[in-house]
Amino acid sequence: MKLLTYFYKRVAFIFKKKINIDKEELTYQNLDELFTYYGTDKAKRVRNQYNKNLDIFIGHGYSKFYENHFNFLKNTNFNLLEIGTWFGASTASFCKFFPNAKIFGIDKNFKFKYKSKNINFIQCDISTKRGLEQLSNKIYGKKFKIIIDDGSHILTHIIKNIIIFTKYVERSGFYIIEDFNLPKYYKYLNDSNNKEIYIDEILKNIKQKKYFKSDILSKSEQKYLFETIEKIYVYKGNTKDSDIAFLKVK
Ligand SMILES: C[S@@+](CC[C@H](N)C(=O)[O-])C[C@H]1O[C@@H](n2cnc3c(N)ncnc32)[C@H](O)[C@@H]1O
Repeated sequence: MKLLTYFYKRVAFIFKKKINIDKEELTYQNLDELFTYYGTDKAKRVRNQYNKNLDIFIGHGYSKFYENHFNFLKNTNFNLLEIGTWFGASTASFCKFFPNAKIFGIDKNFKFKYKSKNINFIQCDISTKRGLEQLSNKIYGKKFKIIIDDGSHILTHIIKNIIIFTKYVERSGFYIIEDFNLPKYYKYLNDSNNKEIYIDEILKNIKQKKYFKSDILSKSEQKYLFETIEKIYVYKGNTKDSDIAFLKVK
C-alpha cells in the first residue's frame, strides 16, 4: 500500500504543472528581495510559508550572510545543492540570483512547484540508505561550490549530513547549516538519547580540532573534518532560533 501511494505521488508529480521561472522577468537584484518574492523564511520578512492564511510575518534574515559570502559568484558557473526545498522558494531564489549556476534541490516530499533549465529537483529521503543511494546516482561525479542543509533539523540527521555532504563540496567551497541550534531549543528535534552533543559544540570542537563523544562520527571521521574544514563562520539571524554556520572546505 505504501509503495502504491509512493508511485501514485511520483506519477502525479511528473504530470503536475510547474511554474517555469525562466519565463519570469524579475527586476530584483538582491537576494533578500528574491527570498521575499518566492516566500522563503531565509528572508528578513516573509509571509509564513507553512500557513499562508496566517497574517504573520517571519524571517531568519540570512540573506545578508549569503550575500556577503557569495555576491562575487553572481555571474559565475557553479553547482549549488540544497537539502530541503519544501515547495522550492529558496531553490527558485538562488536560481534567479545565480543565473549561470546549476541549482540542485533535494526533498522527500513532492511539493516542489517550479521548473527551470538550471533547476534539478531530486526527490529522495536522505535519512534512508535507499534515498542516499538514489541521490548518489543522480549526483554521481559532481562537486558543489555550495551545499546547504535546510532539511529536517533533527540532531542525528544534521550530524550525519555533515560527514556525508562535506565530501561533495569542492575545494574552497562551503557547507552551510541553517537553524543549527533548533535541536537545542526544541527537544523533539533531539533524537539522540543524549548520545550526541549539540551542533554548536560540535562546531567548536571542529574549530579547535578536539575529539568529542559521538556514536555517529567516528574518530577517523572527526579527523577528516579537522583536516578538511578550514574555517567556520557562525552568525545569528533575526530571531532567537536563527543560527547559521558557514563551513569553508579546504
Ligand atoms: C525547512 S523546509 C525547507 C525550506 C526551503 N529550503 C526554503 O527555504 O523555502 C525543510 C524541508 O526538508 C524536507 N526534509 C525533511 N527531512 C528530509 C529528508 N530526510 N530527506 C529529504 N528531505 C527532507 C522536508 O520535506 C521539508 O520540505
